[in-house]
Amino acid sequence: MSSQELVQISSPGKLFLLGEHFVVMGAPALLTTVDLRCNVSLSPRSDQQITIASGNLGSQEFSIQEILERRSIAQAQWDQFRESGNVGLLTEITKELLAYASISIGEALHYYGAKLNRGFGISIDSQIPVGAGLGSSAATSVSLAAAVALHLGHQLTLLEINDIAYEAEKRRHGNPSGADNSTVTFGGVIRFVREPKTIETLNLGIPENLSSNFVLIDTGKPNESTGEMVAKVAQLRRDNPSLVNAALTSQTMLIQELIDSVVPSGDEAGFVRVVKAGEQNLENIGVVSPSSIALIRAIEKTGGAAKICGAGGVRGSTGIVLAYHPDRKLVETVAKDKGLSFFSTTLGVEGLRREK
Ligand code: MEV
Repeated sequence: MSSQELVQISSPGKLFLLGEHFVVMGAPALLTTVDLRCNVSLSPRSDQQITIASGNLGSQEFSIQEILERRSIAQAQWDQFRESGNVGLLTEITKELLAYASISIGEALHYYGAKLNRGFGISIDSQIPVGAGLGSSAATSVSLAAAVALHLGHQLTLLEINDIAYEAEKRRHGNPSGADNSTVTFGGVIRFVREPKTIETLNLGIPENLSSNFVLIDTGKPNESTGEMVAKVAQLRRDNPSLVNAALTSQTMLIQELIDSVVPSGDEAGFVRVVKAGEQNLENIGVVSPSSIALIRAIEKTGGAAKICGAGGVRGSTGIVLAYHPDRKLVETVAKDKGLSFFSTTLGVEGLRREK
C-alpha cells in the first residue's frame, strides 16, 4: 500500500578530502558532506502518472510503466558499456535532462517490486552545483530513492537506500566506487572502501582552525565526464602500473595520517603538507588540467594548499577546488585575482534525512 502523505527528503553534497580515483581501484578514501542540500518532495496523485519537476532541469510526465521500462533499458545499455568499455554509451543513458531522475525513481520501484496503481509528483530543488565534484547526482538519487521508499510504506533503511542510489549512479558514471552515494546517505566524515564495502563513520570532528579555513573555489564544469576520467585513469594503470600504484600507496598513507594525527590535533602545517602531497598524486595520474594546476600553485605560494575534489578534468575546468590556508583570506585573494567565484560551507553535516 502506498502512502497518501506528502514526503520531503533532503541529502547533502559531498567532497573528497582525499582518495578520489584511487578509491575506484580499491584504496580507502576520506570524504565529508557539505552543507548544500538536494531537497525532494513527493506528493501522491490520483491518476497513474509520475511527474518530475526540477528547478534546474524543467519538468516531464511519465506513466508508471514508462518509468519501469526506462530503468530496464538503462540497465541493458549499462550492461553493454560493461562488456564493451565504450564510455560513449554512458552519455546516451542520461542524455535527456530528467533521465537520471527517472532512472533513480525506476530503480527504487524495481528494488521494492512495487505494483502501483496510482502515480505521484516529484519535485527536486537542489543547491548543489552540477558536475562540480560535489556529489549532486548522488544526492539526487539518494533523496529520490528515500522519498519513493517512504511513499511505498517502507522504513528509511540507509543501507537499502544507498544500494538503490548506487544502481542509479552506475548508469550515470559507469564504474563509480559508491563513495559519493555512501557519504551523502550516512553523512559526517566517512572512510570508505569499495571492496569489501566499508562505510566507516569517523568520530572525527574537524577542529575549528581547520574547518573555518576551507575555501571552495569554482573553476567551472569540466569538459570530461566522471566516467571518462575514471576510464582514462584505468587505461593509465594498464599502461603504467608502477606510476599509478605508487600514487595509490602514497595516497593511502596520507589518508591514514589525516585520520590518526593531522585532523584530530588540528595540525595546520601537517594539513597543508598532506593536501599538497595528495594533489601531487592526482597530478601524477593526469586528472588535473593546466589551468587548475596554475591556480593550485598560486595558492601554494601563499603558504596554503589546494586540490581538486572529484573526478577532475584534463583540458579546462576541474569543478570545485578545495583550498585551505590557516588565514583563508589569502586563498580568497588568489581566487579573486583569477576571476573565480568561491564560497565556504560547513563540512561534516548530517546525511540523508526526512524533513516531513
Ligand atoms: C567522483 O566524485 C570521484 C571518483 O573517485 C569516482 C568515484 O569514486 O566513483 C573519481
